[in-house]
Amino acid sequence: MLSLPYRAGELRALFGRLGYLRLPRLLTDEGLAALRADFHRLEKLTVRSEHRRCLLDGRLIARESPLIDRLYADPDLLSCLCELSGLDAAALPEPDQRHALDVLHERDDAHTPHTDGHPLVLVLFLEAPAAPQDGGLLEYVPPPPAGGGDAGWPAAAGQVLRAHHAPGDAYLLRGDTTLHRVTPLRRSGVRRAVLSFAYAARERQLIGGPSGAAGGSAGRPPGLPSRS
Ligand SMILES: [Fe+2]
Repeated sequence: MLSLPYRAGELRALFGRLGYLRLPRLLTDEGLAALRADFHRLEKLTVRSEHRRCLLDGRLIARESPLIDRLYADPDLLSCLCELSGLDAAALPEPDQRHALDVLHERDDAHTPHTDGHPLVLVLFLEAPAAPQDGGLLEYVPPPPAGGGDAGWPAAAGQVLRAHHAPGDAYLLRGDTTLHRVTPLRRSGVRRAVLSFAYAARERQLIGGPSGAAGGSAGRPPGLPSRS
């Protein structure tokens, strides 16, 4: 189902600096096919609003797809997220907020700049435009260093980074402190369909040392609750 990164802890500093970490081909071919099959069943339940189709009721997703629910709480995945982030990642206590489906499918469909309502968000790509020129790209502003000022959008436009992903790829985002958006689809006939997992997190308490190395606070964020 998953091809988890080897030596995940070595990616922690990069994640702490960027607030983002690309996880290429996190889904195996079999895993992608299985999730797509469930997604195609669930897509009919999505509702269109604000330039996208989405299904935000994680409880309904879990009921309709035990596979997604199992994957969300997979112990190996959770352990990997802890290693990557330096945080104690844990399933959200609210089942309805754990997973969401999101589909951009019409020209100009997009996500406007926002932060997420949870500290760790894992986004799994089920479908994506093949060419970056077709849009649907993630753009994000790395969070300011701990103790630094507030770098907001678009004031920090010089620091905007951009990422293109293929089906089967994933990324981990420090969702509460990393301002991000998804660029508009540039033409009809292309789609971006993702499954997003949200996790609670708290700083790791290291005996005799400072707290975890991912940077930033794991407190409840002030940002918007939407995910992408
Ligand atoms: Fe988001």
